[in-house]
Amino acid sequence: MNTRFTEEQVMMRKMVRDFAHAEIAPNIESMESDGRFPEGIIQKMGELGLMGIPIPEKYGGSGMDFISYIIAIHEISKVSAALGVILSVHTSVGTNPIVDFGSEEQKQRYVPKLASGEYLGAFALTEPGSGSDAANLKTKAIDVGDHYILNGSKVFITNGAEADTFITFARTGNEKGSKGISAFIVEKNSPGLEIGKNEKKMGLRGSSTVQLNFDQCIVPKTQLLGIEGEGFKIAMSNLNVGRIGIAAQALGISEGALEQAVAYAKEREQFGKAIAHHQGVSFKLADMATAVEAAKQLTYHAASLMENGKHCVKEVSMAKLYAAKTATKTAVEAVQVHGGYGYTEDYPVERFFRDAKVTEIYEGTNEIQHMVIAKQILKD
Ligand code: CAA
Repeated sequence: MNTRFTEEQVMMRKMVRDFAHAEIAPNIESMESDGRFPEGIIQKMGELGLMGIPIPEKYGGSGMDFISYIIAIHEISKVSAALGVILSVHTSVGTNPIVDFGSEEQKQRYVPKLASGEYLGAFALTEPGSGSDAANLKTKAIDVGDHYILNGSKVFITNGAEADTFITFARTGNEKGSKGISAFIVEKNSPGLEIGKNEKKMGLRGSSTVQLNFDQCIVPKTQLLGIEGEGFKIAMSNLNVGRIGIAAQALGISEGALEQAVAYAKEREQFGKAIAHHQGVSFKLADMATAVEAAKQLTYHAASLMENGKHCVKEVSMAKLYAAKTATKTAVEAVQVHGGYGYTEDYPVERFFRDAKVTEIYEGTNEIQHMVIAKQILKD
């Protein structure tokens, strides 16, 4: 892959790797026990320009290419998948919708704060009754003159406990399905917005996941994002950006698990030699490495299409689907290589195993990615 990266991208990778090892790795244990990321980490990431990598400099971002952004998520996720998803959600679905669809005033008001890490962004689409069937959402926004009143609830909101802004989707029209849905920038202190408790999850323990309740929540008209009734398209096009980030996160988990498995297999001896020299283990490592390489190619291919402004819905879903499946499979195999030790918290593979699964679920389950890919190939 090296040859594919520019000198700047290689420098970026080194900077992120160093940061992940120096600043994130020492905090893993506390993130696992507290369920929260370390205080000050987002600020430090902001100072390094990591919270707005592909955001234009004009709006306070780093103005770098999309591949550099994917490199950052990939490298951070090798150390902490929790920080990987925080960065991905913040940038792709938390900030990018404002860059792509916001008015100049909204861009000036929110994007510099988000891109610098002063604000953390979140995305509120999923509801208790509408996950995969996102267009069936029920949260209602009623136009009452100079503001809207929102009522409804959202679930599984990544970054929700710390977020300053929520890109929120609600129904403004009476039409059913994807029509009549609008997007809003909702600030955390909006009257009538209640931020629920942090879910206790299987993995990604340093990343918050909350429920939101909108009870007569007042959202000024100026917070409508894009055109009224066009919200579903905003959600879908930004999820397309988000899904490459999740592919990169899954890739980081796979590569991290593979590295741990290789190191352990070289060191652990049984039957008079390192287990890496038993074919049962070495073939397993070969399969894992092959899948990781394929996931890498798909992810960076999709990222490069996006960077070049090409239509890439199919390629993004393929990357997300394959990288997510690879993350789960590689993490399971990495635990197997570690034997009994892999089942303890003393080795990182136990955490990779728990972190991997959700990549097959959020930002569109594997089954949804199949639907998206099938629709594209049948259309082509
Ligand atoms: N870009 C732009 N527009 C798009 C689009 C895209 N990628 N995909 C669809 N659209 C548009 C369509 O063109 C269509 O518009 P028209 O009616 O004008 O033609 C409209 O959106 C509706 O499209 P569909 O008919 O395809 O919609 P659907 O109801 O059949 O749903 C779906 C399609 C793919 C199943 C979609 O609902 C989906 O992706 N579901 C999964 C939801 C999801 O990923 N949720 C993740 C939650 S966020 C999260 O997990 C973040 C986190 O916190 C980690």
